[in-house]
Amino acid sequence: MLNWIDRRTGFVTMAKDFLTEDVPGGASYWYVFGSATLFAMIVQIVTGIFLTFFYAPSAMTAWESTKYIYDHPFQHTVLSIHYWGASAMIALVFLHLLQVVIWGAYKSPREIQWIVGVLLLLVTMVLGLTGYLLPWDMDAYFASQVAINLTLNVPFIGGWIQQFVQDGTTMGTLTINRFFGLHVWLMPAALVALVGAHLAIFRWNGPAGPPVEDPRPLRRGRFWPDQLFMDTVASLLVLIGIVALATFWPPFLDVKADPTVQFTPYPAWYFLDLFGLLNIVPGNLEIVGAIIIPGIATTLLILLPWIDRSTTRVTGSRKFILWLLGVSLLIIWALTIWSQLSIMQKQAAAPAGGPPAVAAKEQANMTKSGTSNVSPPSATAAVSPAAKAGQAVYSQNCSSCHGAAGAGTPPNFPPLAANSFVTGDPKQVILTVLNGKTGAIQVNGANYNGMMPPWKPSLSTKDIANVVTYIRSALGTNRAGPVTPADVAKLKK
Ligand code: HEC
Repeated sequence: MLNWIDRRTGFVTMAKDFLTEDVPGGASYWYVFGSATLFAMIVQIVTGIFLTFFYAPSAMTAWESTKYIYDHPFQHTVLSIHYWGASAMIALVFLHLLQVVIWGAYKSPREIQWIVGVLLLLVTMVLGLTGYLLPWDMDAYFASQVAINLTLNVPFIGGWIQQFVQDGTTMGTLTINRFFGLHVWLMPAALVALVGAHLAIFRWNGPAGPPVEDPRPLRRGRFWPDQLFMDTVASLLVLIGIVALATFWPPFLDVKADPTVQFTPYPAWYFLDLFGLLNIVPGNLEIVGAIIIPGIATTLLILLPWIDRSTTRVTGSRKFILWLLGVSLLIIWALTIWSQLSIMQKQAAAPAGGPPAVAAKEQANMTKSGTSNVSPPSATAAVSPAAKAGQAVYSQNCSSCHGAAGAGTPPNFPPLAANSFVTGDPKQVILTVLNGKTGAIQVNGANYNGMMPPWKPSLSTKDIANVVTYIRSALGTNRAGPVTPADVAKLKK
């Protein structure tokens, strides 16, 4: 039977060849990082495919379908495994790379295998980045917005990339679709193709073995069964680790993305270093932190086999490269820790722009009844600096007609407190304040008719943003989301 198949396909011979591969120096637990990474990738593919059965990529459904996944224990477990599997995969790729660098395994004739490996690291990071947006909660939205805006720094084609991933002036359904296409189709396809190439080249060159300068040929070992056993043990440990993390620290879903709220996003841990780098460089030099430094670092990484040209792989004779590695790691760690601390500080200063996560249920209900476009109440906007500044603008310019507490004066001046127009669509409120308003209106069943002057000529963009934020979020019982000067500037034309 096996013979019959083998004669027609060659599969059995291939499998035999594969299993009898030589392992220089004998099987070793030092060789498991590559296969453990491969295993984590398989976990990601399997759980990822499962999640696509439930996830629906659009602005109306992304968060809602993720919520559905969170609300069902089995789906939630798979999602948690996918979440921690991503971290595990990045960590393992990194460890694998670290070992290759320390052992000098990138040296001739393995340069191409090395380059493919670096590309795999990049693809893995893009997978992490694109996956981060999909739940469409506050973190997803605001962290991805940072990433999308950074693409503008890419020379020449930045605007094109930004348009491609965002597709529109604001993030929405098309953005989710682009990220979804990248995350579940293009990047996994690239990943599998590159892994195939990586392994094929690996088979061609054979394993590099430990970095020893020993003229005697190393003791030969076999892949089967010793190394395969060790690889399996390592993969099992990875699986246990991922499942344990998924069980004890499942990720949590924040409220649905609300662009009108101010929010300090938290990136995935493997992007904290880049985030920190961006915060160090001054705003007008963003391109340095976003493109130049990471670009140089990646180029140096790719060129490593040509930078370290000595033929020896013995660690003792490659002090320069190992120093370089140590310093790079120190910088990465320092940036990561610094970034973590500064985000924590920012979040503590302006505790979560959004309502607490318990409100998620409420919002899900609101969504069902079709009122989700009303911004969720922002518990902290009342004390936000923008609202405070807006209060000053209000008492100087608006209180004479609308009243100090926003109660209004019939029959001309409508109340602004407890007025659903004011807490409704922020665009309309901004337009009213910019351009004024006349004609009969109805607020809470009472009629008003008067002339509201346009404020565009006399108030700055920032003052208008602040005063609208104030009347929406802090006047009387109004608790709607704030607006930003950028929102105002957009409508000012
Ligand atoms: C000179 C008096 C006056 C001042 C000052 C004034 N408003 Fe008004 N405002 C009005 C009148 C009158 C209306 C109702 C217009 C109408 O009848 O359509 C109005 C309407 C509004 C509305 C729309 C309410 C609704 O339900 O349609 C908003 C929002 C508003 N004002 C905000 C402001 C803000 C913010 C300021 C200060 C920057 C301000 N107003 C200053 C007279 C004033």
